[in-house]
Amino acid sequence: MKSFQFAFLLANYALMGILLCYDQHNKKKLADLTTRIRSSDTAPTYRNLTWNDINFVHTTDTHGWYSGHLNQKQYNANWGDFISFTSHLRQQALEQGQDLLLIDSGDRHDGNGFSDITYPNGLVSTPIFMKQNYDLLTIGNHELYVWENSRQEYELVADYFGDKYISSNVEYKFENGTFAPFGQKYKYFTTPVQQIRTLALGFLFDFNRFNNGTRVIPIAEVITQDWFNEVLQQHKDKVDLIVIVAHTPISHDYPELYNLHSHLRQYFPDTIIQYFGGHSHIRDFTVFDELSTGLQSGRYCETIGWTSVNVKGNVSLHERFARSYLDFNLHSFLHHTNKSIHEFDTDKGKHVSSLITETRNKLNLNRALGYVNGSNYYIDYVPIDHKNNIFDLLTSKVLTTLVPEGHTNTTSTSDRIIIINTGSIRYDLYKGPYTIDSQYIVSPFENLWVKLTVPKSIATQVAAKLNDNGYIYAKGQADAIDNRRLLPPHHYYSSERTKRDQTPLILSEVERKKLSKGYVTFDDFGNDGDDTLHKPVVNFPIPNVVESVQIHSDSEEDIDLIFYDFITPNIVWALNELNYTNFNKSPSLYSSKYLGDLLTEYIQQFII
Ligand SMILES: *[C@@H]1O[C@H](CO)[C@@H](O)[C@H](O)[C@H]1NC(C)=O
Ligand SMILES: *[C@@H]1O[C@H](CO)[C@@H](O)[C@H](O)[C@H]1NC(C)=O
Ligand SMILES: *[C@@H]1O[C@H](CO)[C@@H](O)[C@H](O)[C@H]1NC(C)=O
Ligand SMILES: *[C@@H]1O[C@H](CO)[C@@H](O)[C@H](O)[C@H]1NC(C)=O
Ligand SMILES: *[C@@H]1O[C@H](CO)[C@@H](O)[C@H](O)[C@H]1NC(C)=O
Ligand SMILES: *[C@@H]1O[C@H](CO)[C@@H](O)[C@H](O)[C@H]1NC(C)=O
Ligand SMILES: *[C@@H]1O[C@H](CO)[C@@H](O)[C@H](O)[C@H]1NC(C)=O
Ligand SMILES: *[C@@H]1O[C@H](CO)[C@@H](O)[C@H](O)[C@H]1NC(C)=O
Ligand SMILES: [Zn+2]
Ligand SMILES: [Zn+2]
Repeated sequence: MKSFQFAFLLANYALMGILLCYDQHNKKKLADLTTRIRSSDTAPTYRNLTWNDINFVHTTDTHGWYSGHLNQKQYNANWGDFISFTSHLRQQALEQGQDLLLIDSGDRHDGNGFSDITYPNGLVSTPIFMKQNYDLLTIGNHELYVWENSRQEYELVADYFGDKYISSNVEYKFENGTFAPFGQKYKYFTTPVQQIRTLALGFLFDFNRFNNGTRVIPIAEVITQDWFNEVLQQHKDKVDLIVIVAHTPISHDYPELYNLHSHLRQYFPDTIIQYFGGHSHIRDFTVFDELSTGLQSGRYCETIGWTSVNVKGNVSLHERFARSYLDFNLHSFLHHTNKSIHEFDTDKGKHVSSLITETRNKLNLNRALGYVNGSNYYIDYVPIDHKNNIFDLLTSKVLTTLVPEGHTNTTSTSDRIIIINTGSIRYDLYKGPYTIDSQYIVSPFENLWVKLTVPKSIATQVAAKLNDNGYIYAKGQADAIDNRRLLPPHHYYSSERTKRDQTPLILSEVERKKLSKGYVTFDDFGNDGDDTLHKPVVNFPIPNVVESVQIHSDSEEDIDLIFYDFITPNIVWALNELNYTNFNKSPSLYSSKYLGDLLTEYIQQFII
């Protein structure tokens, strides 16, 4: 029944496309673009792409950002622009006698209003994602939390892409109890231009919170399974290139793909292997060995990853592989395709842009609830106590407006401390209209507030205890509490190297130029991978939790300690660590007003 609904939705979209007046849309967009291009103060400085026998365009962790970043011009391209872009790149590859493959590593919803305002998430955004003609794609963990998402993935996405959808270790469960892979377990094919014999495999990291209509078989187990080793054995002398499409970090700190790699090398000691990773939301490129590298392409349609491989020559590592991280905007797309604005849009690209606009209007996503006038508020581009840090805004202003259930205002509220985990804010808050979409972008999580009443002297120590990362219980312990899990993903996974390399960069040749702030990525090939030269943004460290201390009296009475219900185990752990056990272990409800609603009301009421 649901699949009928999906089919209907697709048909509906096709119809909408036909009905739209392209010309009018086109003119407006052109005017729009011209203004945007003119309004940019200085043309950015670009590094060109390196092309080779086979070229890859990679996306990962798009999380529904197909409308582009409406309040950030650095990432303002939308999915239609991306489709036009890749169509020009494919043409160029053909003209040069080279191959080009388009790859996605999963996590396609849970990220903003465009994907999350529907039930299930991704209901209308996923069909838009599918307009891009990927050559290979795989599943992410966000396709596995909720069964309805998994069903959509199986019945719609995997079905549509057919043998291009590869998952070697994630399966879907039918009503009769049998399992089938999402798409295919592997794909063996010859590339159309260079006739490169390619074996593609798809992997998700060892994720154990999948819904019960699905299952994930850890990579460590798959490599011991007969079917897998038979596939490798069968293709032993028939492969020029192995492509691994993974939703797994490629970082050296994260062992899963490296274990897979050792296993693959037993069958294919001299074969080129290219990995594509995801999940930790960073730009990264790593060297597995002289014939193998991995690329990871960031998050949220901020980045398009590029890598090219010399498959045929006997060349060194650095001559064989090249990589780039492209900023997801039109300037960048125009530069790399050598097109003017007038030549850029393809019919399909325009069609998809129109579809996005129409869909956003239908969903009412652009309706302004308020405005952010003064400045941007960042998760980690400024220190945690900076006035433009979003956690400073939340703890000093927004959280003071939380009214307990049964009260009408906060004036009668006694002393209290409110603790939130930093991972509960999903993205920065940018200047401009604050829309329904913005609330989904910044604070979508529907967490109830609960409270425990504890001595003031204990309550004031809880946040510090949760931020003391020396106290992580041993991993793998059944009741383990890992407080670092309270962080946003790109901090939880940040490697030792990332931290070490957070030193300001000297860009000698362009020092005097006015560079915009943006990604400067340090990877195994150095720091020249970003296509656009930027002044580096610094990701300042942020704690696991922040607290809003609202203590106005000297009274020694017990105070309310307020937190999200889902972090109760962490709070209880901290209280135990503080030797405070004299409390009722189930906290009581404090308020059911979500943080996102508090923020929205704050923005509507005050000028920020
Ligand atoms: C990039 O390519 C264009 C066109 O071939 C060329 O004019 C330009 O100098 C190149 N830029 C760099 C930094 O190599
Ligand atoms: C279970 O259901 C699936 C999907 O309907 C079907 O393809 C498969 O043959 C069934 N298996 C058995 C053992 O009945
Ligand atoms: C998953 O579990 C729920 C109850 O927790 C049950 O109703 C449902 O049938 C299960 N689904 C499958 C596919 O096993
Ligand atoms: C590749 O080149 C290296 C040195 O340039 C040489 O030692 C090696 O034998 C060559 N390998 C093949 C397969 O030609
Ligand atoms: C870019 O396009 C211009 C105009 O079409 C053309 O003259 C030029 O040769 C192109 N440059 C490259 C590097 O293809
Ligand atoms: C905030 O910005 C919006 C849109 O630019 C504008 O309409 C509004 O008047 C501004 N409010 C204040 C208080 O400046
Ligand atoms: C806040 O609520 C209390 C009772 O809960 C009431 O006495 C007080 O007048 C209210 N204050 C405001 C500003 O509404
Ligand atoms: C808790 O009690 C233990 C054992 O008495 C003691 O070693 C520890 O220092 C106490 N911790 C705190 C934070 O008081
Ligand atoms: Zn993700
Ligand atoms: Zn993920």
